[in-house]
Amino acid sequence: MKKELRRAVIAGNWKMNNTPSQAKALIEAMKPLVADADCDVVLCVPAIDIPAAVEAAKGSNIKIGAENVHFKASGAYTGEISADMLKEAGVEYVVIGHSERRQYFAETDQTVNLRTLAAVNAGLKAIVCVGETLEQRELGYTETLLKYQTKMALTNVTADQLKNIIIAYEPVWAIGTGVTATADQADEGNGFCRAAIAEAYGADVAETVTIQYGGSMNAKNADELVDKVNVDGGLIGGASLKAEDFSIIVKAASK
Ligand code: PGA
Repeated sequence: MKKELRRAVIAGNWKMNNTPSQAKALIEAMKPLVADADCDVVLCVPAIDIPAAVEAAKGSNIKIGAENVHFKASGAYTGEISADMLKEAGVEYVVIGHSERRQYFAETDQTVNLRTLAAVNAGLKAIVCVGETLEQRELGYTETLLKYQTKMALTNVTADQLKNIIIAYEPVWAIGTGVTATADQADEGNGFCRAAIAEAYGADVAETVTIQYGGSMNAKNADELVDKVNVDGGLIGGASLKAEDFSIIVKAASK
């Protein structure tokens, strides 16, 4: 395993939190705290917050991401936002296939794949989420499921496009629950995703892909998680809403 081939990425996922003025204030508070980061720092924010977030992050090392993108370029899709729209607004990253979207908004492996293609074709970096439920884990399907979700998400993605894709392993049972996967479980899950990429693209390519862990990562457990050979940073929900906590996680990934 060659961890040094990969750049760690710490990405906040604000979910449905913070108004535009709150977004501005939080980013202003974070800027000095993460200025020395030796990893990529991203904040994925609600669509309505994007202009305020892009403006607040200007001149800093914080990149702004969206939390979803539609897979069509334009057309009659009321309420949706295209990759080109995000790009022009200054967005660089987009979260795709988060388990909350799979659970509440009918996201499927097929639509995750279409969104991923739309994002990378528009020049965005995609943070593609995969993860098993507690039931699937207890039935022993974790490896099968993670490999399946990873390969499905990457259908028709070229090895060159893969450079703009990050996989986020997020066990559903660990999201927002305060129950974190152990560092070994995170490493193993990330390893399954990397193995799926190796099967599809070859081991050398798989070694270069950034694979994050997500699910109750916080200021206390980040060190141990990001130390693991397969864990290249994290996708952070709750702890990305607090400047101090988020900056401690960024520091852990900068070592
Ligand atoms: P959490 O969320 O850190 O609040 O568990 C992670 C995520 O959903 O990306």
